[in-house]
Amino acid sequence: MKQAKTKKIVAGVVALLLLVCAIFLLINKNVFSKKSDAQGEVTQSEEVTEDETTEKVKNDDVAEVDKSVYMDSSKSVEERVESLLAQMTLREKAAQMVQPEQNGITLEQITKYGVGSILSGGGSAPTAGNKATHWEKHINEIKQAALDSRLGIPVLYGVDAVHGHNNVYGATVFPHNIGLGAANDEELMARIGEVVAEEVRATGIQWTFAPCLGNAQNELWGRTYECFGEDTDIVARLGAAFARGVQGEPESENYLTDTHVLATAKHYIGEGFTAGGTNQGDVKMDADSFEALLQDSLLEPYRAQLEDGVLTVMVSFSSVNGEKCHESTYLIKDVLKGQLGFNGLVVSDYNGIEQIAGATFKAQVGNAVNAGIDLFMEPYNWETTISAIEALVKDGTITEEQIDDSVRRILRVKFEAGLFEEQVGSDTELALMEEFGSEEHREVAREAVRKSMVLLKNDKVGQQTAMEILQNAQNISVLGTKANDLGTQCGGWTISWQGSTGKITEGTTIMQGITDALPGRTVLYSAKGELTGEEDAVIVVIGEKPYAETSGDRSSSNLTIDKADSTMVQNADEALKAAREKGVPVVAVLLTGRPVTIADYVDSFDAIVEAWLPGTEGAGVADVFFGDYDFTGTLSFTWPWYASDIEKKFEDESLVLFKKGTGLRKDGTGIQADGTVAIGAKPEKTEEELNAISEGSINLETVGYVLEAENFTEDSYLVNTGNANNISYVDSWSGEWANAKWDVWVPEAGDYRLHFFIAADKDSKTVDIYYNTPTIEDDGNANRTNVPMTKTASMTDYEDFTLDVTLEKGSYQFKFMNTKADGADFRLDRIEFEHIN
Ligand code: BGC
Repeated sequence: MKQAKTKKIVAGVVALLLLVCAIFLLINKNVFSKKSDAQGEVTQSEEVTEDETTEKVKNDDVAEVDKSVYMDSSKSVEERVESLLAQMTLREKAAQMVQPEQNGITLEQITKYGVGSILSGGGSAPTAGNKATHWEKHINEIKQAALDSRLGIPVLYGVDAVHGHNNVYGATVFPHNIGLGAANDEELMARIGEVVAEEVRATGIQWTFAPCLGNAQNELWGRTYECFGEDTDIVARLGAAFARGVQGEPESENYLTDTHVLATAKHYIGEGFTAGGTNQGDVKMDADSFEALLQDSLLEPYRAQLEDGVLTVMVSFSSVNGEKCHESTYLIKDVLKGQLGFNGLVVSDYNGIEQIAGATFKAQVGNAVNAGIDLFMEPYNWETTISAIEALVKDGTITEEQIDDSVRRILRVKFEAGLFEEQVGSDTELALMEEFGSEEHREVAREAVRKSMVLLKNDKVGQQTAMEILQNAQNISVLGTKANDLGTQCGGWTISWQGSTGKITEGTTIMQGITDALPGRTVLYSAKGELTGEEDAVIVVIGEKPYAETSGDRSSSNLTIDKADSTMVQNADEALKAAREKGVPVVAVLLTGRPVTIADYVDSFDAIVEAWLPGTEGAGVADVFFGDYDFTGTLSFTWPWYASDIEKKFEDESLVLFKKGTGLRKDGTGIQADGTVAIGAKPEKTEEELNAISEGSINLETVGYVLEAENFTEDSYLVNTGNANNISYVDSWSGEWANAKWDVWVPEAGDYRLHFFIAADKDSKTVDIYYNTPTIEDDGNANRTNVPMTKTASMTDYEDFTLDVTLEKGSYQFKFMNTKADGADFRLDRIEFEHIN
């Protein structure tokens, strides 16, 4: 720390000297280089086409680039930054401020513009293939293209290596952060960081968009599994440990060497606190309360990252009291760059600029620049962003000083990370490639799996606990498709953005791990959940299907395990009961990205193990179940009995099924002092609530008679979800079909006026609402009415279209469906139910 401070003071003095020099240069126009004149010329020539402009810049300047300072690593970072900045045209500065998607830019464009950064978003692999060697080749071409630009500024390549280099086939995939929070082991986190960095570096990439520093308060949020816990403290500690591993210890010789990559503190800020756990939602709090939360708690993980030398921060899609973080000058400039003294770069989130205030995209870019965004993650709108920045400087909306500040930050990060000294396809890179997905790396992930599992329940069955009996059982049945599904155990952000089921990469499933661990014993697997009657222990694997971001948001009535799994458990019910009566323990393994409602299952199992989303090394499960390891994981989240009580779970202990800190050992004792949690009584629910919960449907009363569009059922099809101006919606793009469904519990019979909040680009008569009671199975016999909708002012202006219906008390399925693709685009934000009679 002391060293860090001395360094800061020296840097401050150097910066001051440079500032004095800069002022001197400004006053003494004669010392302006010819290049600057050319810059002036270019910026004034409104008429020239893009190509002519670039040509001109090249012709005038090509001979004059002076690399003697900025390519000299013996010079200080600030000297190098200033020397380079002074030679840049406005367009070159603007180009440094954009981050296109690798599949949204050509090599020629990279050279032509000299873009600052490139990303691979979730699942975005090189077209040639998804092996690490494909990535390395592709990234090296991209790097070379950037070096071939006029100034030869190296490009900074970023990727979401959020639980390993997870987009790449064959990478070591670690448990998602929620599991690592349960492991709560800083030393392990740092080692994980090192492995992640080595695998990312093997492919030539220098930057990961991790760690995620949200602290989820409401597990309806689809990004809960990306968080280490619900408390700031654990998020700050584990996030910092990960950053130290990924980047190397700050102030050490190890820091940001060529086996390390840059970390990203994300997503700044307020994540996990949005109302209703809505992704990209709003943190609704009065200004004073938010300020107190910010200062006392939310900034803590960011302070820790900064102290550990993290140089990049990604802004959150969320809003605070209606203002998007991406447009908040207070949060970015005043707090992050001002109060916390952050000197690195601030990157926007994927198309985040399109979500902020501003009548045009250009205006949105202007607002974001002025708020303090330095690097624009504009995967496909990057060219428009460059033009917008240029135009905004010309028309005075933003100052060139502001642009210079952003470019300085971007260049500073590149110098600090050693990009200017980097050799494309270096020997280190090739050596690291040899270790990509190696046994040694996988061993670290396997250790993380062992440490992340939490034993939530472990009853005695006779003299021994269920886990003790299982450990020595000779004839074991393993039930459920998820037991043998690599994709499921990896979850979202694996190979593809959303993740998917099946053998999506290299790794070991839980079932394979168990089989390998028990060569002399009988281990049978039944995907359908069938028992032989011969077993002396049963393992049932159930959980959630993979998801990422908004598509993981749930309503409280559907935050449960996958329907296919509950059906399997129901079908196996009698056989499981019979086994238990004989003293055969039934152990459930949960593969979920968060606490889910398991109230109906708690009594059905003798033991419950939360294994989260463990990643590719499923053998870690067997290590603990059958090996010499014991459980060490504890919950970093409060787990309510019912998701409908999430908002009250911190206040009312009677609503809590498993307290934070819960975690048992095989012998049934608690790991933490109060970790032996005797499971309390199930909170009483009304019959209606229980019906709604058990049917997995949305109780209108619980949701205030507002059916949010995005809470549609999993079997909806041909619908898109999105978020425009803070409204989540389902829509039909380009006049395609849409069929969104909701399972609803209507608590009271009567006449209802349905208010459909819709934006539409045409008058349309082709959208119907179907409302089937459970007795009417097929659409042909369903109640069905046309939803009146006319063209609205724009696709973000939602108007209220009404329709009166009569409903009985009970379960319904509502379907919002266009019956003919008539070319109309429409978006539905929500349906409000007004009880009129
Ligand atoms: C996510 C970020 C991610 C980015 C790039 C966004 O949708 O919010 O966490 O880093 O995409 O893939």
